[in-house]
Amino acid sequence: MASITILGAGNVGQHFAKALHQAGHQIVQVYNRTPRRLQALMPYLPPTTQFTTHLQQLLPHNGLYLIAVADDAVAAVAQTMPAVPGVVAHTSGATPMSVLVKHPRRGIFYPLQTFTAAHTVHFEQVPFCIDAALPHDAEFLQAIAQTLSPRVYAITDEQRRILHVAAVFANNFTNHLLAIADDLCKTNGVPFEILKPLIAETLKKTEQQPPRNVQTGPAKRADAQTIAQHLALLQNQPHYQQLYRLLSESIGKMYHGNP
Ligand SMILES: NC(=O)c1ccc[n+]([C@@H]2O[C@H](COP(=O)([O-])OP(=O)(O)OC[C@H]3O[C@@H](n4cnc5c(N)ncnc54)[C@H](OP(=O)(O)O)[C@@H]3O)[C@@H](O)[C@H]2O)c1
Repeated sequence: MASITILGAGNVGQHFAKALHQAGHQIVQVYNRTPRRLQALMPYLPPTTQFTTHLQQLLPHNGLYLIAVADDAVAAVAQTMPAVPGVVAHTSGATPMSVLVKHPRRGIFYPLQTFTAAHTVHFEQVPFCIDAALPHDAEFLQAIAQTLSPRVYAITDEQRRILHVAAVFANNFTNHLLAIADDLCKTNGVPFEILKPLIAETLKKTEQQPPRNVQTGPAKRADAQTIAQHLALLQNQPHYQQLYRLLSESIGKMYHGNP
C-alpha cells in the first residue's frame, strides 16, 4: 500500500482521500488552500493524517502526491510545491502532463467520472486514465488505481484531451439538455417525472448499441413540420430555440448529409 498526499480537498480530493484510505493506503497529508474543506475531511481520516494550508509544509515520502485542485491552479501548485521524492500526478482531464515539468517523477491519475462532494461515488465503476513520464511510475499509478477500480487504462495526453471533450458532450451537455427539459416542464406545469423512463431508456440503449444506431426523433426522420412546430413553441425562449435548431441541424447532417 502506498503513502499518499492529496493536494486539494474539493469534490475530487475529498472522495479520493476517503476512498484511498478505505482501500488501505496511508493518507500522509492533505493540503488545501483554505481550511474549511480540510475540516470537513478530518473526521473521515485517521489521527495520523496531517492537514496543512501551506504547500511548503508538505512532508517528503516516496509515494504519490495527487494534485486535485481547479484546472487553472494545477500548474501553479505543481510549480510552488517543493521538490518531492514521490510521483506527482494530477487529476485533470484537460491539463497536459507538461505542467508538472518541475517533477521528474510525474504522471496523470484522471478519473473519468463526475464527482460532487455530497454524492456517493462507486469507485469500482470509475474508469481511471493513467499516464506517467517514467514507465515504472506508470505501473505504480496503475497499481494504486487498481485498488479502487478494475477499469484502469493507459491513456496518452492527446487521447485524454479528446476523451475530455467527449466527456463534456456525454455528461455536461446531456445534463444541460435535461435541465432545459426540466425547465420547460416546470414553466408549463408538466411533471418532469413523466420524462424519467424515457431518459433511463435513452442511456440503457447506448449500453447495447452505438448511440448513432439508436437515434430517434423529428430531426432523424427529417420531419420538417414537427420541427417547425417545436421552434414556434420555443419562440419566447430564443436561447432554447437556437439550441434546438443547432442540435437538429447536427442530427440532420449525421443522418442525411445535410442540415
Ligand atoms: N468534479 C469532477 O467531476 C471531476 C472529474 C474528473 C476530474 N476532475 C478534476 O479534478 C480537479 C479538481 O476538481 P474538483 O471538482 O474537485 O474541484 P472543486 O471541487 O471546485 O475544488 C477545487 C479545489 O481547488 C482548490 N483551488 C482552486 N484554486 C486554487 C489555487 N489558485 N491554489 C490552490 N488551490 C486552489 C480549491 O481550494 P479552496 O477550497 O481553497 O477553494 C479546491 O480545493 C480538476 O482538475 C478537475 O478537472 C474533476
